[in-house]
Amino acid sequence: MKNTTASSLSAMKANGEKFAVITAYDFTFSKLIENAAIEVVLVGDSLGNVIQGRDSTIPVTVDEMAYHTEAVKRGNERALLITDMPFMSYATEAQTLENAAVLMQAGAQMVKLEGGEWLADTVHLLTERGIPVCGHVGLTPQSVHKLGGYKVQGKEQQAAAQMIADAKALESAGAELIVVECVPSSLGRELSEAVDIPVIGIGAGPDTDAQVLVLQDMLGISQRLPSFSKNFLDEHNSIEQAITAYGNAVRTGSFPGPEHCFK
Ligand code: KIV
Repeated sequence: MKNTTASSLSAMKANGEKFAVITAYDFTFSKLIENAAIEVVLVGDSLGNVIQGRDSTIPVTVDEMAYHTEAVKRGNERALLITDMPFMSYATEAQTLENAAVLMQAGAQMVKLEGGEWLADTVHLLTERGIPVCGHVGLTPQSVHKLGGYKVQGKEQQAAAQMIADAKALESAGAELIVVECVPSSLGRELSEAVDIPVIGIGAGPDTDAQVLVLQDMLGISQRLPSFSKNFLDEHNSIEQAITAYGNAVRTGSFPGPEHCFK
């Protein structure tokens, strides 16, 4: 497997090929993910939930993200490594640049930020300085208290139209990837069709350009398996085989199935 780049992912979308993304937080799992030939690894601020046992991602700090990014980077040279900018670390221009620099120097090759149209200037600020950006729309866990809980987003027509406008604004500002979380499958498809950059879905149906899952969820070892996820370790004898099976299921389109989707 060649090293993944943003342009190789863009070429995959153009060719109608799907790719797999998975979260990782440490060296050992990162190495298994490299062996399993997963294209993209995300050091998600979900580490607040699955590593630190917190009930949201809000307490996660930039230093914690940098620590886990360094460990993941040591285990994986092939996958594109994206790191989340945690809660309020991109509130001002100065904070955005300073914190993105910390994460890039820790080994990230792209940073992920949660938000829509309102975030376009921040995305532009980063990309014009050579820092690649992944957007994140739909259910944005850093805004859980504003959203009133972890709920499916974009069910109403107006909210769906706004999300499509958000994705287009992020793309115009220079984002090279977009994650869309917990939306009806029809909206996952519309979003993927609305932009040229690859759209990575989680609980967004089978028609996005890629899928992402939280590692602990897809191994069935998290406290509660979200309905949009699947335990791949159930049917396989090792963690590496389970991760490989996840990658293959995404590429062939057999995951997600109808039982993992929202209407
Ligand atoms: O933090 C995370 O793991 C994420 C994924 C759920 C997309 O943002």
